[in-house]
Amino acid sequence: MIVSNRLPVDHVSGEGKDAVWRTSPGGLVAALEPVMRERDGVWIGWPGMPDVELEPFKADGIELVPIPLSADEVRDYYEGFSNDTLWPLYHDVISTPAYHREWWEAYQRVNRRFADAALAVAAPNAIVWVHDYQLQLVPKMLRDARPDLIIGFFNHIPFPPYGIYSQLPWRRQIIDGLLGADVIGFQRVADAGNFARAVRRLHGYETRANLISVPLDETQAEMTLRHQATARRGQPVRTVLARPFPISIDAQEYQKLAADPYIRARAQEIRQELGNPRVLMLGVDRLDYTKGIRHRMKAFGELLEEGLISAEDVALVQVASPSRERVDAYAQLRDEVEITVSRINGDFSQLGHAAIHYLHQGYPREEMVALYLAADVMLVTALRDGMNLVAKEYVASRIDQDGVLILSEFAGASDELRQALLVNPHDIDGLKSAIVHAIRMPQRERMRRMRALRKRVLTHDVQRWSATFLDALVRADHHDPANHIDIPRRTVAPLDYGGD
Ligand code: G6P
Repeated sequence: MIVSNRLPVDHVSGEGKDAVWRTSPGGLVAALEPVMRERDGVWIGWPGMPDVELEPFKADGIELVPIPLSADEVRDYYEGFSNDTLWPLYHDVISTPAYHREWWEAYQRVNRRFADAALAVAAPNAIVWVHDYQLQLVPKMLRDARPDLIIGFFNHIPFPPYGIYSQLPWRRQIIDGLLGADVIGFQRVADAGNFARAVRRLHGYETRANLISVPLDETQAEMTLRHQATARRGQPVRTVLARPFPISIDAQEYQKLAADPYIRARAQEIRQELGNPRVLMLGVDRLDYTKGIRHRMKAFGELLEEGLISAEDVALVQVASPSRERVDAYAQLRDEVEITVSRINGDFSQLGHAAIHYLHQGYPREEMVALYLAADVMLVTALRDGMNLVAKEYVASRIDQDGVLILSEFAGASDELRQALLVNPHDIDGLKSAIVHAIRMPQRERMRRMRALRKRVLTHDVQRWSATFLDALVRADHHDPANHIDIPRRTVAPLDYGGD
């Protein structure tokens, strides 16, 4: 069973009972679809619109259970606590998180609704995989009600350092929620480390390597032990595995699209439509303040200003897909980006040669691959990003083994994609040098780097990711007492006694 904030569907047409939905072709769906079909899987999530009450339905062989959210819940749980509290907090407070008790109330209420829906359909000993920051309380809710379940959680976004995380007024409750899982997956080694540190600081639980020992009280122990073959003396604990599982993409699918003659022709056409610039640079992001869109524009604008590049020679296409538009920080960012684009274009565009082609739209995957194929330089300058799948999509699409990836060291992808030009997007001069380096890079070097990047992405795709996670989850089966009942050798006292 998968539990995620969004169902993997797009609304196609119609209202209420006549509504037509189509599965959205994300990587997660591609990776999980075969497993879900085979195992009679259920996917629980919100269909993405307020006040939509839908019966469970099947799409592409997967049973989907829609969870309704009222307009107030969308405001308080989704836009509020998820995207105006947790999102900025977990992304290094790039934007200031807002802490509102009514948002927290809504977050708990909605997490409970997701958990109840899962509990209503979970078979005995079912494997439940909960996704992302919107649903961090669900693992504990599931475990408290049903200790037989095998529970996984994957955090798609970063987990912040303790000094930042500790701002959260409900920091203990969130940690407790997550620790309900048997396996907690993070993108980076650093995220898993930050989480373990928060657990030590707030609870004093022992952590060893990737394992966290969570003491059980008597009732919990009894509940848990009922499902164990044996019990041991002393303080019983559950062991939670918390480690990195860097997510990826359906790399074969991108390769396939990149080989499609129509898409290849479209790539050529795109370059022509842009006036055949010598160098085409590309940015593709949700319009989000974590993505460093303004930083890359600053660098690009300065290069134009200094005459190191010209609009006739070098074009930048920036796809910024609309996102979370009713959250103030996003509306504000949109204004800032759009002012910057028009300033740069006003100052440096030439007739028939815009400096920046700004597209505030979403595109189908086919068009994205055509853009990737057309782009000489891909700019990923996130200030903080769990992984950044666009970087991997670009690499997988470059079956010609050409193209340069400029990649922020603050994106999780930089742990794996070491042959990219790694940048600190806050360092505008460094970013400018990287852009110039990318533009001037000889083909031999471009291909050497791209070959190495491709090797990584093609061997570490999303199918491997999900198989690795599920494998760890099944092995973490708490029906195996050898793995999951232990006596801590040492109990560390909590270091801090906050008001929570
Ligand atoms: C990030 C999050 C996802 C989220 C996506 C789109 O990738 O990790 O959980 O679904 O952004 O954001 P949205 O708010 O539109 O779901």
